[in-house]
Amino acid sequence: MNSPVGLILPNQDLVDRILEQSRDSPRKRSFAMLRSASCPEEIPSIMINCFQLGTYVTPHKHPSREMWVVYQGLFQAVLFDEVGEVTLNEEIGSGRGKIPLIEFTGGTYHTIIPLMPDSVLIEFYLDVFNQNTYKQFAPWVASEDTTNYEKNDGYLEDLLKRINLCSR
Ligand SMILES: [Fe+2]
Repeated sequence: MNSPVGLILPNQDLVDRILEQSRDSPRKRSFAMLRSASCPEEIPSIMINCFQLGTYVTPHKHPSREMWVVYQGLFQAVLFDEVGEVTLNEEIGSGRGKIPLIEFTGGTYHTIIPLMPDSVLIEFYLDVFNQNTYKQFAPWVASEDTTNYEKNDGYLEDLLKRINLCSR
């Protein structure tokens, strides 16, 4: 999907479809790209990402700014410095009293951990989307295993310990 500039109109059916995929996915998450900016005029790139409990998002960074808006549910948003020290560890969520939005600069390692089933994030990447340079994984933590998903349970446990969030 690549929506033209000036027409982004996702509906509940789309979110429900992605949620269903995430429930069936061994990765425990699923996404749809609404726009992949191929030139500056198309910025931002926009993605809907649906998460289930237990998914492991390898801490990573991008060359440019990223912004998350919580569509529904609850998350732990975690930012790290270059060597993996936690610099921000905040709950973000939808609904009254919650922080619904976070923005961070390019070059900031980050991860996101769903704290409720069916949690949904709308992600904005404020640059042209280049598949080859978009994402760099953190070297100081295990990378998500996409062949043996059971391994990710252990990786997630290690990550939760690192951010002092082991009492879920
Ligand atoms: Fe990211």
